[in-house]
Amino acid sequence: MDAEHMGADLAKVLLTEQEIQARLGELGQEIWADYHDKNVLLVGVLKGAVVVMADLMRALPGSAEMDWMAVSSYGSGTKSSGVVRILKDLDTDITDRHVLIVEDIIDSGLTLSWIRTNLLSRSPASVEICTLLRKPEAAKVEIDVRYVGFDIPTEFVVGYGLDFAEAYRNLRVVGVLAPHMYT
Ligand code: IMP
Ligand code: MG
Repeated sequence: MDAEHMGADLAKVLLTEQEIQARLGELGQEIWADYHDKNVLLVGVLKGAVVVMADLMRALPGSAEMDWMAVSSYGSGTKSSGVVRILKDLDTDITDRHVLIVEDIIDSGLTLSWIRTNLLSRSPASVEICTLLRKPEAAKVEIDVRYVGFDIPTEFVVGYGLDFAEAYRNLRVVGVLAPHMYT
């Protein structure tokens, strides 16, 4: 769906399709410069990373494997607690593999921090993180993110894989949800 299909539910477009594609093209080149000889395994976290993964992996100028994890955060309310349960684990044995986690957005970074620690316990050669979007809150936690698409303000965004109550993941742009939608 396009921004106009959301009518008044979208306050503004933050990133257009063209801006996202251009940035992913740059990241693809950067990542390949670092990983071309490392048989990198791209690991996506369901479901938000589906769209980023599809475009980022095609922006790589060479072949790369991918795998997926699904996790659920324990804890009350909408804030993630950092306590995580694995709903779907990797199919791949990552012993001695170079792993690049592909994420849609890092807010508190708690979930991702748990996932990285979990993957590091499996004796991989390395674990790095690539995220399309990062909010300022993420700067407060000790999480080293190697590749960042865009730093964005603390606003609730939807589209390009990101949802509000599972809606709008299929929006082509990244947009700010109108406040009347969640107040
Ligand atoms: P964290 O553990 O606080 O970093 O949680 C990150 C997760 O929260 C992301 O993977 C998203 O699923 C969700 N999230 C955080 N900010 C937004 C947003 O602005 N829009 C949609 N989902 C978000
Ligand atoms: Mg998510």
